[in-house]
Amino acid sequence: MKRTIRDLADLKGKVVLLRVDFNVPLDDAGKILDATRVINEIPTIQYLSDKGARIVIISHLGRPKGFDIRKSLWPITLLLSKKLKCNVTFCNYAVGDEVKERISLLGDGDVLLLENIRFYEGETTCDMDFARELASLGKIFVDDAFGVAHRENASNYGVARLLPNAIGFLMEREIKELTQIVENPKKPFVAIIGGAKVETKAKIIDKLLDQADTVIIGGAMAYTFLLAKGKDVGSSLVEPKSIDIARAIIFNAKEKGKKLLLPIDHVCMKERDKSKRVYKVEKMQDDMIGYDIGPKTAKLYAQEIASAGQIFWNGPMGMYEDKRFIKGSKSLAQSIANSKAYSVVGGGDTVAIINACHLASKINFISTGGGASLKFIEEGTLPAIEVIQEKTI
Ligand code: 3PG
Repeated sequence: MKRTIRDLADLKGKVVLLRVDFNVPLDDAGKILDATRVINEIPTIQYLSDKGARIVIISHLGRPKGFDIRKSLWPITLLLSKKLKCNVTFCNYAVGDEVKERISLLGDGDVLLLENIRFYEGETTCDMDFARELASLGKIFVDDAFGVAHRENASNYGVARLLPNAIGFLMEREIKELTQIVENPKKPFVAIIGGAKVETKAKIIDKLLDQADTVIIGGAMAYTFLLAKGKDVGSSLVEPKSIDIARAIIFNAKEKGKKLLLPIDHVCMKERDKSKRVYKVEKMQDDMIGYDIGPKTAKLYAQEIASAGQIFWNGPMGMYEDKRFIKGSKSLAQSIANSKAYSVVGGGDTVAIINACHLASKINFISTGGGASLKFIEEGTLPAIEVIQEKTI
């Protein structure tokens, strides 16, 4: 078990470097479009503040190449101040003299937010000189950035190797919830994996075939699976180089005695149909492209979900960004919300669908990680978690 902030004694007056994941969507005016990741971080910050720590927050936002004002963390300062009911200060840098100066002005319980750590090249290359510069700013390191824990970056993996460390409340809950899926899922366990590419999801599907009783497939990658089974997919998107991988997954499911469910009908458009009519079909014609699961598939998946004891969902059922093709994902979200099963959902697109349906309160746990939650289920741990000290009993 990893050391948590509850295990840290004498925080009063100490500078705590807190790595969080404030990688939130912003519009062009800097308005936060989804504040979930910031709101979920408040209990950890509040706890450290109540203990009298001087908190220095480090985060990334997007994937900037050098300084980019559109990727500044500044807009988050106001929201943090509001939620914490205190004056959170912001520094335009993440290392250097100005940062040291700002830290020296902090009182017990105060919070300082540093500028986007990805403005510095050494962050993603995990440059240990850069990590040392960061580590020199504080006495203790707390990692609560689950969403980026699958990456070995300087501000998580690097700094954790240089300072006494612990995880925060958000990271603790993510580890607990996702470990339960890996080690002790409630039965029957139904895992639903959607998205565009077999290549990026093959490992997690294989892992879930060990843990789950049923694996449901949706999204564009379903067409590669259907093609691997010799079904007609019309002109739908397929990955020719992943057909063998899909075939191996289908074979493994059979060997392991697990159910692998694929769509039985689709919402399609004809390739050259100027009117862009939507068809619900069971048999694909050559010029048809599938964009969503059809109503019979939604019903089939809903029946499986209704009898589940536990559900894990990652990845949309169709091209949900176009509202003509969101129905399949929405109906799946509703089926999960209606079921009595313990539900865990992860991934940016999937969480966006849950939020669009206003169903977040009906889901037992929503992971803040996309790639991180999948990698955690695959591996049972993540690099930035591995470097955190174990709890001493
Ligand atoms: C995420 O949004 O998945 C995390 O913040 C990680 O972001 P990244 O994929 O840019 O490293």
